[in-house]
Amino acid sequence: MRPEPHPMTPEPYRVRSRRPDRADTVTLTLEPVQGVCPPFVPGQFTMLYAPGVGEIPISISGRARSGGYVQTIRAVGAVSGALCRKRRGEIVGLRGPYGTGWDMSAAAGLDVVVAAGGLGLAPLRPVVRDLARHASRYGRVSVIVGARTPATVIYPRELARWRDDHGIDVQVTVDHPDRAWKGPVGLVTRLIDRIVFDPRHAFAFICGPDAMIKATAAELVRRGVRPGRLAVLLERNMKCGVGRCGHCQLGPLFVCVDGPVVTYDRAAPLLAVREL
Ligand SMILES: Cc1cc2nc3c(=O)[nH]c(=O)nc-3n(C[C@H](O)[C@H](O)[C@H](O)COP(=O)(O)OP(=O)(O)OC[C@H]3O[C@@H](n4cnc5c(N)ncnc54)[C@H](O)[C@@H]3O)c2cc1C
Ligand code: FES
Repeated sequence: MRPEPHPMTPEPYRVRSRRPDRADTVTLTLEPVQGVCPPFVPGQFTMLYAPGVGEIPISISGRARSGGYVQTIRAVGAVSGALCRKRRGEIVGLRGPYGTGWDMSAAAGLDVVVAAGGLGLAPLRPVVRDLARHASRYGRVSVIVGARTPATVIYPRELARWRDDHGIDVQVTVDHPDRAWKGPVGLVTRLIDRIVFDPRHAFAFICGPDAMIKATAAELVRRGVRPGRLAVLLERNMKCGVGRCGHCQLGPLFVCVDGPVVTYDRAAPLLAVREL
């Protein structure tokens, strides 16, 4: 009898499709060489292995019609760069899905603000798709996105569809506009003035760099949204992804198992300490 594979051994997945999104960002659809993708909840991540290079956590941005995982990756270093260079038909390793997901039921009946900084829109994509699909479950829905430049705004076609086909209030701001840019310029927090929601009856999903999370959450709390009604996705360096190595520790939290999605009342005191 063949021994069971070790749970930390990545399964081989084939790149079914590869879509270059922006200059340094690629969206891959990954399917297991054998069997089917395990179920996932929005917000969870997988550990993706680029053979011979290394393994990194990447959020699941959706499920393709074929059943595969859709994952959007920005090339920032050795492993993410190697994954972004993978072509259709090539093999990567995958473990997971791991971690906590966005709690959609906590937002039911409330106005919803989705706030994304840069690539933070990738883990939030399944949230917005759920909001669009089940609009009657929620109040007013707004999506605010901040990016460095117009060229780094991911999913531009989908943003337009959410606005035009689903009536979602989608607003995008950039730090550095180009000549063609006609939208707002500046931090994503400035967009909070442009959207309509009742802070006492609102829920927010926030993902981006720590500074963006802190600034957005602080502004929403200042306006009256309860910290327990802010869900944030924390990114920390990870190695095992399953609560064993301690690489992702943030105070008492192991982000890979207690997160990456947590409510802001838990995250705020930890994000306030610089060394953590
Ligand atoms: C739960 C979770 C979900 C993630 N989801 C995605 C995703 O959907 N798409 C995606 O492209 N990336 C995602 N990341 C970030 C991704 O894991 C890192 O970009 C990756 O680990 C970088 O590895 P590397 O070997 O390519 O680069 P490295 O050589 O390790 O790093 C290159 C540069 O990127 C910086 N960096 C490394 N890790 C991070 C990080 N987590 N956040 C910000 N800067 C970092 C380093 O400081 C360094 O400057 C996620 C991270 C976590 C923890
Ligand atoms: S990555 Fe090892 S404990 Fe979280």
